[in-house]
Parts: sequence; structure tokens; C-alpha cells
Amino acid sequence: MEKKRRDFMGLSLGLFTAAGGIGALYAMKRTWDPLPSVKAAGFTTIDLSGAQPNVLTVEKWRGKPIFVLKKTADMKPDDRDVIIGSDRFHVSIGLCTHLGCIPAYEGEQHKFKCACHGGEFDASGRVLKSPPPSPLVIPPFTIEGTKLVLGEAGPEYKKMLDAGLIA
Ligand code: FES
Repeated sequence: MEKKRRDFMGLSLGLFTAAGGIGALYAMKRTWDPLPSVKAAGFTTIDLSGAQPNVLTVEKWRGKPIFVLKKTADMKPDDRDVIIGSDRFHVSIGLCTHLGCIPAYEGEQHKFKCACHGGEFDASGRVLKSPPPSPLVIPPFTIEGTKLVLGEAGPEYKKMLDAGLIA
């Protein structure tokens, strides 16, 4: 009777210890694993199927504003355009390449104006008026159907990078 009781106590203690160990391992794994929001933080997906021509959308990617502008038929095509289906888009990091202000889009004139020091960019992000030293920067992107995924360098982006068109 006494032996049975000791066996039972030993078994109970063993199970309790094993359960505690598994629980501790699980807790450690949860601590080490990045949160789901952190895993997704490097990427921003934008569905462009409903984009309106000449209406600037400002998205956010890695804490930076991202300009997305669907071009109208009368806007000059540019090698920096992101082409999705039959539509052309200007996509750039919305920070002036002079000192980092956020330029405003002037829809009637099809240009970006920076209020800080008067710099201007056309609807393809190219410099129209200094002091900005270079065009608005195109962020790494890839195209998935009608969606633009920011943060991943797809073939279209790599082609622009090789051609020196990113900034
Ligand atoms: Fe835009 Fe200076 S920061 S012109």
C-alpha cells in the first residue's frame, strides 16, 4: 500500500515537473518570437485597383510617407513609372531630397511643391526647381496583380535600380 502511494506521488511529481518544463519552454519561445505585427512591419501592401487619376494617396511605409499617384493620360510617361495593367503610377518616398520636408501635390499643375525652400518636382518625381539635388526616391516594391507591396525589391524595381532611376 505504502509503495503504491510512493509510486503515485513520484508519478505525479514527474508529470507536474514535465508540464512545468513544457510551459516554461513555450513561454520562452513566445518571448523570442517576433510579434505578428513586427513580422509584417517591413511591408506595406497597397491595392491600387480603386485609385483615381491625379489624386495623390499618401501611405505609410517604415514610418515614411509614400506618395502614390495614378497618372492621367495627358501626363508625360516616364521610365520611373510603376506600370500596373494599363495604368501608370508615380510611387515615391514623400520626402524632399533637399532637407526632408514633405512636398504638397498641386493637382492642377501636376507637380509637387516643397514649402520649405521652394523646391519642385514633376508628377514623375523629377526635379523641376532646385534646391532638391535629386528626384524623389522610389522605395523598393514588387507588384502582385493590382497590389503594390512596399519593402520587397521585385523585378520592376531592380530594373529601375540597375538603370539608375531610383533617385
Ligand atoms: Fe524641400 Fe528644402 S526641404 S526644398
